[in-house]
Amino acid sequence: MTIDIRPIDPVNRAFFAGEVSGIDLTRPLSDEEVTAIHAGMDQFGVLVFHDQRLDDEQQLVFSRQLGPLEQATGDIMPPEQRRMSMDLNDISNLDVNGNVLARDDRRRLFSLGNLLWHSDSSFKDVPAKYSLLSARTIPAAGGNTEFADMRAAYDALDEETKHEVLDLICRHSQIYSRGMLGFDDFTEAERLKWAPVRQRLVRRHPNTGRLSLYLASHAGEIEGWPVPEARAFLRDLNEHATQRQFVYAHVWRPFDLVIWDNRVTMHRARRFNSKEVRDMRRTTLTNEVSSLEQAP
Ligand code: OGA
Ligand code: MN
Repeated sequence: MTIDIRPIDPVNRAFFAGEVSGIDLTRPLSDEEVTAIHAGMDQFGVLVFHDQRLDDEQQLVFSRQLGPLEQATGDIMPPEQRRMSMDLNDISNLDVNGNVLARDDRRRLFSLGNLLWHSDSSFKDVPAKYSLLSARTIPAAGGNTEFADMRAAYDALDEETKHEVLDLICRHSQIYSRGMLGFDDFTEAERLKWAPVRQRLVRRHPNTGRLSLYLASHAGEIEGWPVPEARAFLRDLNEHATQRQFVYAHVWRPFDLVIWDNRVTMHRARRFNSKEVRDMRRTTLTNEVSSLEQAP
């Protein structure tokens, strides 16, 4: 098998998702395959692999071949109620017994934050690099994941705005993003754990040198700006960055594996019938450094 990556024929004009064929992710990768995946990620930002029947252990082995993992400390699931190890994020609507969470379950309401455009773990000092999401069970309809290209969005800004955003520092917290949906049911410990962290609004990709807007619903402040003005500006930037020409909508098939680069994309989940099972597992590579160290 030889690995091949071709741009996914887009409905819109977004050409930043590649479909990968000729690779079996359930087996150890060759050095050439690892290199090809990293090169593909640099070129595209989102890679789609079909028919990869990974279990959790295989997903972990595969992910670790690409780089060090981040721990799943971004959710509110108590350790004794987790369905999987801290090396995996449980992106499902299921409890520890495999039952669909009740509509008003606190864990479900918290996870609805994924419906807002975001970049994974931007609320951590050291945020995420790649996210690797494996679809195990998908609902009959809905539940797409949409991606937006933050390099194209940055490039399309007018010169004045490019200049204005270049050195701005935002403060990111899950308290802000969940707050947008009216979720403020945080414990004192969660408020401390998710105190705002600083991230650049424009960052440079270390390999390609391209600049991108580092936006997320977690961003709730801009340093040195009055809060309402910062929020209004961040809204404008988000609206700009998620115009349809910058967006790829992924329609899941069971055992798709999608990798995205959180440094250059945002993503969001789309609604589905909450009585149906949607079971996805995410491994996440750490960026190892803060965005503050990836200045333009
Ligand atoms: C994630 C995420 C979106 C989805 O796994 O980080 O935001 O569609 N998922 O489940
Ligand atoms: Mn996410």
